[in-house]
Amino acid sequence: MLRVAIIGLGPIGNLHADCYRSSPLCELVGVCDIIKERADAAAERLNVRAFYGAAEMLKQLQPDLCGICTGGYEYGSDHYEPTVQALEAGCHVLGEKPISNEIQPAQEMVVAAQKKNRCYGINLNHRFTPLARQAREWVDEGRLGHLLFVNVSMWIKNSTEQSPWFQIKALHPHTVDIMRYFCGDIVAVQCFATKAPGRAIWSTAHFNMRFANGVVGGLTGSYDIQRGHPMERCEVAGTGGRFVLDDMFMELTLYPAGTMEKRVITNTVFGDIREKTFTDTFRNRIHHFVEQVASGTPPEKIDGSGADGLAAQKVLAAAIESIQTGAVVDVH
Ligand SMILES: NC(=O)c1ccc[n+]([C@@H]2O[C@H](COP(=O)([O-])OP(=O)(O)OC[C@H]3O[C@@H](n4cnc5c(N)ncnc54)[C@H](O)[C@@H]3O)[C@@H](O)[C@H]2O)c1
Repeated sequence: MLRVAIIGLGPIGNLHADCYRSSPLCELVGVCDIIKERADAAAERLNVRAFYGAAEMLKQLQPDLCGICTGGYEYGSDHYEPTVQALEAGCHVLGEKPISNEIQPAQEMVVAAQKKNRCYGINLNHRFTPLARQAREWVDEGRLGHLLFVNVSMWIKNSTEQSPWFQIKALHPHTVDIMRYFCGDIVAVQCFATKAPGRAIWSTAHFNMRFANGVVGGLTGSYDIQRGHPMERCEVAGTGGRFVLDDMFMELTLYPAGTMEKRVITNTVFGDIREKTFTDTFRNRIHHFVEQVASGTPPEKIDGSGADGLAAQKVLAAAIESIQTGAVVDVH
């Protein structure tokens, strides 16, 4: 049984806590937030101890695994301190995306996990849905042939005007991660961005990508469109065919090349796919991390790792440089 503690008890930390509580492999032992009311409310709801500082909780409870659900500037500045504290205390860590809003702290977190030989994952939940797994199997089986191109778009409404780069840094860890999941490392980026009426930040953007294996890709994202209709689309194509994954877990279609037939997997109310809501994507991802930790998976084999989170953030940093300079920017 893994003893789990959560640091950061906003809406997302509470959701993580529920996911760990529903795992037969875990026991939730404590929650911590620097806002006392948040820690107390979560502790009461979850029937665990409340703490108001990570160091004290780590010392007293000595958990095996910590969920880091802090946020901060650009939704990522507060992850660094508690992540390093938890790793130093010997915990495995599953943190929220973006791994950090800056590259340097992200790099240090990945190194800290390596030094302590602890598993470090990021909640890149979109790659863990059953339909994303199925699509990846098709890629691995060679059903798409030689990979050629990828197109992804994601759009939601988020009116936060905190930073010019908020949309790019906070929304696109997800989209860049699924592009990397299917097509591998991204080596160069060019990005254009625009502002919706009344907005001061780069709230909509389009990226062109070049991958290490020669794949070319496009990504369009926006914080300007109200939810209602689907919010994400991913298409990957090769010489042998093409797939389209709609809304992460809703529908997956394989279009084999050279035939009129297609294969469609639809997520229905009575179907086998247990992912029916966005919340389920968290449960799925968190359970995957828990299973990997519990079964002794070596840290370098963690799926959706800190290194993956860092790689996505480097692509986004290159995209920001591209907006600033107008150049195509290599990803290092
Ligand atoms: N994976 C996803 O699909 C997804 C979706 C939405 C949000 N997120 C991510 O989840 C994270 C949290 O989102 P939220 O909306 O719950 O944020 P939030 O700001 O409401 O909550 C974060 C909490 O962390 C606490 N905190 C900050 N530093 C702390 C520290 N050192 N020790 C203890 N507590 C600390 C804050 O007091 C706050 O209560 C963000 O990084 C966001 O990007 C992920």
